[in-house]
Amino acid sequence: MLNKPTLLGVLAALTLFGSLPAQADVDGQQLYRQHCVKCHAEDGRANTMRGWLFFAQNLSKAKWQDNNSDADILNAIQEGPGAMPGYADTLSEAEQLALVKAVRDLRKP
Ligand code: HEC
Repeated sequence: MLNKPTLLGVLAALTLFGSLPAQADVDGQQLYRQHCVKCHAEDGRANTMRGWLFFAQNLSKAKWQDNNSDADILNAIQEGPGAMPGYADTLSEAEQLALVKAVRDLRKP
């Protein structure tokens, strides 16, 4: 039979883990807004002050989308070409992959 302190410990642990984001539901859109919008803009067109300043890529262009594979995009997120910061060490693999998908969703016809 569990005594009271042990039970409380288990409950505390459950609450703690319950509040951590699960790998499966990493929110790519939210990550994009958090890390990328300041340069690439909400719609990916990079029509922001920093986007202009750093010559950030327009990620919504269909032609650009066609010319870049998921691996290219993942590589850019990890390495950070040119003036863009790399996210290899700051974001988990699941987060990086969710961002690849978020970038794909920026595509305009
Ligand atoms: C400080 C501004 C800045 C931030 C923040 C930033 N980028 Fe960039 N990004 C750039 C610039 C500038 C380039 C173009 C680099 C070059 O080719 O010289 C670029 C290029 C890219 C490319 C590759 C374009 C290509 O043709 O290879 C992708 C994909 C990309 N960014 C996605 C993202 C994503 C996703 C995020 C958020 C995790 C992000 N960027 C955050 C500035 C930024």
